[in-house]
Amino acid sequence: MCGIVGYTGPREAFDILIEGLKKLEYRGYDSAGLALQDGDRIRVVKAAGSIAALEKRVRGQIKPLQVGLGHTRWATHGRPTDENAHPHLSCCGNFAVVHNGIIENYSALRDWLRDEKGHVFRSETDTEVLAHLLEEFYAGDLLEALRRTAEIVEGSYAMAALSAHEPGRLVCARKDSPLIIGLGEGENYIASDITALLSHTRRAYILEDGEFASVTAEEVKISRAGGEILQKEVFTVKWDAVAAEKGGYNHFMLKEIMEQPTAVRETLRQRIDTAAGRVNLNELNFAPEELCALEKIYIIACGTAYHAGLVGKYAIEKLAGLPVEVDLASEFRYREPILLKQKHLVITVSQSGETADTLAALRLARRKGVRVLAVTNVVGSSVAREADEVLYTRAGPEIAVASTKAYLTQLIALYLVALYLGDLRKALPSEEAARLVRDLDRLPGLLKQILAEERLSELRAYADRLARWENAFFLGRNLDYAVAMEGSLKLKEISYIHAEAYAAGELKHGPLALITEGIPVIVLATQESILDKTLSNIQEVNARGGAVFAVIPEGRGEIARQVEGAFYLPPVKDLLAPVLSAVPLQLIAYYAAVARGCSVDKPRNLAKSVTVE
Ligand code: F6R
Repeated sequence: MCGIVGYTGPREAFDILIEGLKKLEYRGYDSAGLALQDGDRIRVVKAAGSIAALEKRVRGQIKPLQVGLGHTRWATHGRPTDENAHPHLSCCGNFAVVHNGIIENYSALRDWLRDEKGHVFRSETDTEVLAHLLEEFYAGDLLEALRRTAEIVEGSYAMAALSAHEPGRLVCARKDSPLIIGLGEGENYIASDITALLSHTRRAYILEDGEFASVTAEEVKISRAGGEILQKEVFTVKWDAVAAEKGGYNHFMLKEIMEQPTAVRETLRQRIDTAAGRVNLNELNFAPEELCALEKIYIIACGTAYHAGLVGKYAIEKLAGLPVEVDLASEFRYREPILLKQKHLVITVSQSGETADTLAALRLARRKGVRVLAVTNVVGSSVAREADEVLYTRAGPEIAVASTKAYLTQLIALYLVALYLGDLRKALPSEEAARLVRDLDRLPGLLKQILAEERLSELRAYADRLARWENAFFLGRNLDYAVAMEGSLKLKEISYIHAEAYAAGELKHGPLALITEGIPVIVLATQESILDKTLSNIQEVNARGGAVFAVIPEGRGEIARQVEGAFYLPPVKDLLAPVLSAVPLQLIAYYAAVARGCSVDKPRNLAKSVTVE
């Protein structure tokens, strides 16, 4: 998740690019930069930090120039530093590139360019190889060089380039990452997102995978890899600027819920090998002996990330046979935990990587000589910098305060760790590991089924009824209990309905006294192995007049008949069910908050990143 904007025309490019980047800042904002054509050379200005900081630094320092590319970065490879910011230049400085996505074979390409072709690299990014490849392949036509580059790179990209050899021309291509060409009068644009262009044009070509574009002020030519020119329809944008930023959704939270299939796919990318049936976490530099010698793991986190940790505990204990303790960071740091060097490993889970309590817990573990693995979404965050090893979730920037896609990707990261440890410690038969790897690979597709429009209306109808209540309960057993806790947090934080989650078996030990006529009780019943037990709890609630809405496996119509409402999940292994069952709960919370007129993306009293105790 980064942002690209490009301009070619008679006006001053600097203002257009900076304004466009500011519109894209919500896509990622750890560093930014511009490349401007200046006669027979390219001027690049870029820096870590915000776009406003870059603007302040550069405004008035460069003469008016009319053609350029801009980029706002959300780091995936390499920390957010000046050098790693885009655009990237080739060795000779005549080719500049901006890129969104991940070049998966960048390491092999970089070795080839450096060792066999003598190129010198300045950054740690995957993107820089693109600039060097353009220089390597250039034979008088920039688009042709881009085609040859696209032929050998693997991964996902929206990439745009300019060259000092071809003034006035921008070229671009896409695969699995959005890119559009904005159409003006005597000027044209490139952007990863229409939001960047709305103050200039509402007319655009939408580039599809495998398509290339050559863009000058007078002309836009779109072609396929083989060079065949395409006649594309002009798309006219009807959204206003605010709606465009949210991808047409009313709230970032809904947009982020909808992004979950992609976020999960990205987090799995290159980390599972379905053919070999294995997990590949080569990015972690733990010695195998070190992981085999472990006797216990602590998972430490706050809020939603803590709830992800609870699922991680089940997964690691089941697949790796290793005891796991899950702790709230704010408790852990003040309770003098027993931390044993070489025997224990601490896993911190944090979307932002800046949560003060999580960071303090991490430091405590390291002071005691215990190694720390960070699961985080933000490259270069404090937690990422201070941990021994990092496993990044690749959810992209999460803007809504209520965490959704980050949670799902945290679950995925923890399943990967569990499978990895299970394999290494020989605790998991290889056939079972292979089955689970294949099941992980199916999750993005199953998530898409859950997010289909007709499924959303079922949940919206239920949430409208729930919105009239001031109290609600969530019940579940084992993994369903962990998800119930997350569902309850989601509901209370954005709709302000008081919600409690209970382990279903605990009902009789107190909470049953609260069940009165009509009170909403959301029951998670996805764990086939203990379904009968949860069904008994549903009967207990029914007998006291509670109104049960159950999340159940497909094909269990007999349960649906015993409850007021039900949401069916597509078939999935018990262990992986949380990835699917959390989604209807996110949507129920979202629709209930909307029905109650709450400020969904910025709930009262809450902040996205809790950097104070
Ligand atoms: C709830 C939510 C919070 C965060 C918590 C930890 O929707 O987002 O509970 O999960 O503040 O934040 P991170 O993951 O950034 O450490």
